[in-house]
Amino acid sequence: MKKLAAGNWKMNGTKASLTEVTALLANHPAPACEMLICPPATLIDRLAEAARGTALLVGAQDCHAKPQGAHTGDLSVAMLRDVGATHVILGHSERRTDHGETDALVRAKAQAVVDAGLIAIVCIGETDAERDAGKTLSVIGTQIDGSIPMGATAANLVVAYEPVWAIGTGRTPTLAEIAEVHSFLRGRLRGLIGEDAGGVRLLYGGSVKPSNATDIFAVPHVDGALVGGASLKAADFGAIVAALSAA
Ligand code: PGA
Repeated sequence: MKKLAAGNWKMNGTKASLTEVTALLANHPAPACEMLICPPATLIDRLAEAARGTALLVGAQDCHAKPQGAHTGDLSVAMLRDVGATHVILGHSERRTDHGETDALVRAKAQAVVDAGLIAIVCIGETDAERDAGKTLSVIGTQIDGSIPMGATAANLVVAYEPVWAIGTGRTPTLAEIAEVHSFLRGRLRGLIGEDAGGVRLLYGGSVKPSNATDIFAVPHVDGALVGGASLKAADFGAIVAALSAA
């Protein structure tokens, strides 16, 4: 299995930000892991052009579940594929919170992504209150059961475990806590999709940075990272790519 370093730029970046990608590719032209950036939708086309013939993969941060139609402001999977996206992040906690996305909607979107031949990165994670109440594994189990599309395989599904309280806060779970969730996820996925579960990349996300990446990548069943803030700077994301390549 090839590990995956995925950057999620969220609502950050303009055309000028593409200089960061130039710097990233100059310093990491051929990493041993896969390297993906999901910029805002306005930059997918340009980033895909810049990534052509390089090791960089380009993805989107969301999509609509329907193929086309009267959905003002939304983008279909076919549109994202048309401009060069190969991956789509789905069910990020900020979408679940800001836009009320449910597991059922996340699954419908993920279904559209895999049906179109793209790769779905399905995000799940517990809140602070859920962890404090000892509900982490039950919350995550429910989310994964409800969000995984039919026909998911190691080739078209990536799962990102992102504790809501660790996103953008600088706080991370202990390595033992990450290990517990990732091993639980591997088993739960095996029940859902069978033997292919062994090859599904399980990413950890939430305040991953150069200083903690090596330790996190040594945790069993951590096959990469979904990186927010630290993916905006080529030096930081490059250091995370290098740590994953060495893991
Ligand atoms: P962060 O975000 O790295 O800024 O904590 C992670 C994410 O939301 O994917």
